[in-house]
Amino acid sequence: MPLDPSPSGPIPAGPSRRAFLGGAAAATAALGLSPGGAAASKPRVPGLVSVSDEAEYDRLVKLCYNENPYGPSESVLRALEHATRYANRYLCPDSGVLQAIAAHHGVAPENVLLGAGSTEVLGIAARAFLAEGQQIIGSTPTFELVYQFATGVQAAAHRLPLLGDYRQDVKAIAAAARRPDAGFVYVCNPNNPTGLIVTRDEVAELVDAAASDTPLVIDEAYCDFADSDAYRSALPYVRSGEPVVVVRTFSKAYGMAGVRLGYAVAPPELIERMSRHAGDMSVSVLARWAGAAAIADQQARQRVCEETIRLRREVTGELRGLGYESLDSQASFFMVDLKRPVKPVIDAFRTEGVLVGRPFPPMLNHLRVSIGAPAEMQRFLDAFKKILPAA
Ligand SMILES: Cc1ncc(COP(=O)(O)O)c(C=O)c1O
Repeated sequence: MPLDPSPSGPIPAGPSRRAFLGGAAAATAALGLSPGGAAASKPRVPGLVSVSDEAEYDRLVKLCYNENPYGPSESVLRALEHATRYANRYLCPDSGVLQAIAAHHGVAPENVLLGAGSTEVLGIAARAFLAEGQQIIGSTPTFELVYQFATGVQAAAHRLPLLGDYRQDVKAIAAAARRPDAGFVYVCNPNNPTGLIVTRDEVAELVDAAASDTPLVIDEAYCDFADSDAYRSALPYVRSGEPVVVVRTFSKAYGMAGVRLGYAVAPPELIERMSRHAGDMSVSVLARWAGAAAIADQQARQRVCEETIRLRREVTGELRGLGYESLDSQASFFMVDLKRPVKPVIDAFRTEGVLVGRPFPPMLNHLRVSIGAPAEMQRFLDAFKKILPAA
């Protein structure tokens, strides 16, 4: 059965999106892509035959990096174009993006720190909150790049396995947060790669275990796609001054992964500690203007989220009909249990022109699939039926 187009009509793909796919070193590192230099001859997208074959890139169905298939909204594209008039400047009007983010979340500008994507913000957190010999406390699998930042500052990662049902082991994380060598706690909510949430009661447990010298860093990259009643952002804890850092990105719901903009919201003393490790110049003028326009256009964000949630339900429902259960994702991707090793299946999808998520040990029978546009999800389902027998 073909996937229905959105009841409110298809969301237009941003025509200028490809122009911004250059990204920054931090982003390419985050995604396991080659950062340039000596490695520049390697394909930037694993599975892509040629580095420069744009036509091939465009032909592939890209369900591998949890990108937003629709790209920036029209108003963001206009802002990007407008901002090019300042492309030759260091200091220039930046459309007040930091103030706009603060106002959007009901906090003061002193509560916000910008970065070139949330990847950079997480790196700043690692430099600010980890001393030599300390540990990041968190789950595995999760957005593990954060643990690589620990290595960069001679610290380590204390990785706690997920529970049997793939949820994060909040009790073990809270206990580990009280270790004397804990630097900070990292919790991705909803978690990447599972899409599962830490419930609001569990977040409260984690906040209880946090301290000003062991802050709780909550990565809410996918929060806009959560529709469960049990989910709550940790922002209220920031507003009440708890040692909590909420990390957000414009890469997902706002469709700006190639533009590179993310931010932290935290009590001023934590922002102050982080800003000592942040550069002033990493966020481009284009990203600043685009970010302010994105914040001003909440309707566009909402349309993307509603469509993504609708497709998440529809596609996982169809897979269930074929005999394959998915985890209860609250994110812009889902994980389906293939009941067989995932690696050959990933390769088979590549042969069908569909890029899907990499393996996430130890969940080696699960496939992570980003939620693309309706036609892309139809191509995914067609390939799935071809590759996997009905179970
Ligand atoms: C959980 C999570 N956090 C952070 C990031 C990094 O996003 P960005 O650097 O584009 O803001 C990603 C990217 O996929 C992610 O999945």
